[in-house]
Amino acid sequence: MDTSTFEKKTDINGRMHVSLKHDSAHKHVTGAAEYIDDIPEAAGTLHGALGLSTCPHGEILSIDLDAVKAAPGVVWVFTGRDVPGVNDISPGGRHDEPLLAVTDVQFHGQPIFAVIAETRDAARRAARLAKIEYRPLPHWSDIDGALANEAPLVTEPMTLLRGDPQAEIAKPPHRLKGQMRIGGQEHFYLEGHIAMAIPGEDDEVTVWSSTQHPSEVQHMVGHILGVPANAVTVQTRRMGGGFGGKETQGNQFAALAAIAAKKLKRAVKFRPDRDEDMVMTGKRHDFLIDYDVAYDERGRIHAVDATFAARCGFSSDLSGPVTDRALFHADSSYFYPHVRLTSKPLKTHTVSNTAFRGFGGPQGMLGAERIIEEIAYAVGRDPLDIRKLNFYGQPGSGRDLTPYHQQVQDNIIGRVVEELEQSSDYQARRQAIIEFNRTSRFLRKGIALTPVKFGISFTLTAYNQAGALVHVYSDGSIHLNHGGTEMGQGLNTKVAQVVADCFQVDVDRVKITATTTAKVPNTSATAASSGTDLNGMAAYDAARQIKERLIDFAARCYNVPKEEVEFLPNRVRAGNEIVPFETLVWRAYYDRVQLSAAGFYKTPKIHWDRKAGRGHPFYYFAYGASCTEVTIDTLTGEYLIDRTDILHDVGKSLNPAIDIGQVEGAFVQGMGWLTTEELWWDDKGRLRTHAPSTYKIPLASDRPKIFNVKLAEWSQNAEATIARSKAVGEPPFMLAISVLEALSMAVASVADYRFCPRLDAPATPERVLMAVERLKGLA
Ligand code: MTE
Ligand code: MOS
Repeated sequence: MDTSTFEKKTDINGRMHVSLKHDSAHKHVTGAAEYIDDIPEAAGTLHGALGLSTCPHGEILSIDLDAVKAAPGVVWVFTGRDVPGVNDISPGGRHDEPLLAVTDVQFHGQPIFAVIAETRDAARRAARLAKIEYRPLPHWSDIDGALANEAPLVTEPMTLLRGDPQAEIAKPPHRLKGQMRIGGQEHFYLEGHIAMAIPGEDDEVTVWSSTQHPSEVQHMVGHILGVPANAVTVQTRRMGGGFGGKETQGNQFAALAAIAAKKLKRAVKFRPDRDEDMVMTGKRHDFLIDYDVAYDERGRIHAVDATFAARCGFSSDLSGPVTDRALFHADSSYFYPHVRLTSKPLKTHTVSNTAFRGFGGPQGMLGAERIIEEIAYAVGRDPLDIRKLNFYGQPGSGRDLTPYHQQVQDNIIGRVVEELEQSSDYQARRQAIIEFNRTSRFLRKGIALTPVKFGISFTLTAYNQAGALVHVYSDGSIHLNHGGTEMGQGLNTKVAQVVADCFQVDVDRVKITATTTAKVPNTSATAASSGTDLNGMAAYDAARQIKERLIDFAARCYNVPKEEVEFLPNRVRAGNEIVPFETLVWRAYYDRVQLSAAGFYKTPKIHWDRKAGRGHPFYYFAYGASCTEVTIDTLTGEYLIDRTDILHDVGKSLNPAIDIGQVEGAFVQGMGWLTTEELWWDDKGRLRTHAPSTYKIPLASDRPKIFNVKLAEWSQNAEATIARSKAVGEPPFMLAISVLEALSMAVASVADYRFCPRLDAPATPERVLMAVERLKGLA
């Protein structure tokens, strides 16, 4: 056997806790990374397009598709009545989301029929030729409309209660009430939604889907076709971004492609263009938070009573768990002695909102930071002082219980904030800014330092499981498959590091292959930031089993005790004998040792009783803090982000380069949410911000001019996660709250910091200007 391929690359010391590049980084930047639209098409591949509702809410009176069917290149046109199985793609089993609307439409842009044609262009042109008549029904697009119309809730609301908040709030003297509006957000992944279905024999179909949740797509396609899950294989090599938008929203495209592929016995691809993607797929939920707070003269919170109303869109989708997570994070890093938090998941006649990085958590936390700000202005102190005064205490301090009755056991927020306060020179800069604002006529500055504490685990306990499959081939190369999906976050690289470390081989000996439901079954969405925690452990479990078999074999083969077998870099020592890894593997194969294993993992300790509002839903917390300085122009509302310093906790980082990339990316994405990204529906229920021309994501030039990002190197996960690391995907998104708070301080300066500006999100230049004008009016 030729083993020379691996001989050259020995002695990379350490595969864990090192800054290895993302395994596909060079392919992302050269264009060599294969996305679904890059896969060579099978001969005769057809393309789909959708006919969308032009009415925000109404009964469908008639559908005339004659012109569509007669259009050039059209092969087939189908409606909800042609769905062979069940015309439903609701992920929660509530049956409130048809694949194609049949009797009524509930938002402007809802799919009603699909066109399959020889080319994408032909399908799209044909889709415009339908004549559909509606009987309009009353509609509302936003939270205010929903409240005014006493809209139904799309799912059961949740309440978290501890102590007696109303009694506390009734006591004099310090009480404040307020309202905060928080906008939604479009995912704006670079690769939009796409699915390609390839028909197989009998009931079989294979679907390539840009999804974070291949198992759900598999079940959804099975359901839609009326075939069991074992007939459907779903594959995902990578997504060009998911950000939560591909947890459920890919289902429809996969289902449509599968229906047509089976019917026509040809491969079918669905790829909406950017405008349709933005109109047809769900976004981050907007929130309206009403808060009622009692606090003492120093600014310590006694009680919080708050309601979180959310724009959910027309169906439930993930609105239940998203609004739940808003409540789970409505404490931010603060202890509320008495608290009641209630969600209000409101139905609106808009696209059904869905998961987006943080999953409702950012909205909940933003409410908490607004409460802190209100108190700070009321008592005339720096918001950072009020933050510190209200932080959770250490376990046993009597200030360690969350509103959901979980004890905060791993609290490091004090240390993280203290270190950042020092390293960012916060105090001196704040003084300098106050000084600057005293004399500057039009330009004003602001600075804010805000904390992050984010709970890790799916709140649906069952999702906290994962599987993996590892093969060691007889030439010593390793094939790794796990249930997670790669969306740019570097999951595959990290999981490969885990396997490489287990065998002590170089990372490039481990090939990570496309996620497929045929190799690892019953997987969870790659979401809740837990991809590495879950799949890393499952892959470790698989690799460990093979390693144990190799140790047994080596002991036998070289006639030494098992303790005398040691895995060295790319080699194995058995007593005095040292052989290359692949030599041992080849000998083991020849001796008929099983070199393949399936691994499994489930998160320990967690449980959650939603009805009671009690439990231990999170395995641990990830922490962080950020400090941002901004300059605003009080004449125009325009602003610049001058500097941001971040200290973020990822436990013992598996890969600092990838983790820092996640922190930077999440911060900038959060900044976009809180500053320039604004979704706007007109009074006809049409989304008018459906392209980059009208929807402004941050540009490279919008990033902080000085951007210092550090990981808390001393941190280790107190829980036994993979190599003591912590999840990183979502928590740093909320570091961007410092940007909004810094803008708020700059605005407050125009009235000498006497009033809390109550700046809502997104703080677009227009909104900043309006806040400045309002405060000037009060001053
Ligand atoms: N990073 C990139 N580059 N692209 C993405 O789509 N999604 C985020 C985060 N980081 C995302 C990303 C979201 S919403 C989550 S939940 C996590 O990655 C999911 O991956 P993980 O669990 O492996 O961290
Ligand atoms: Mo992330 S919102 O949990 O996909």
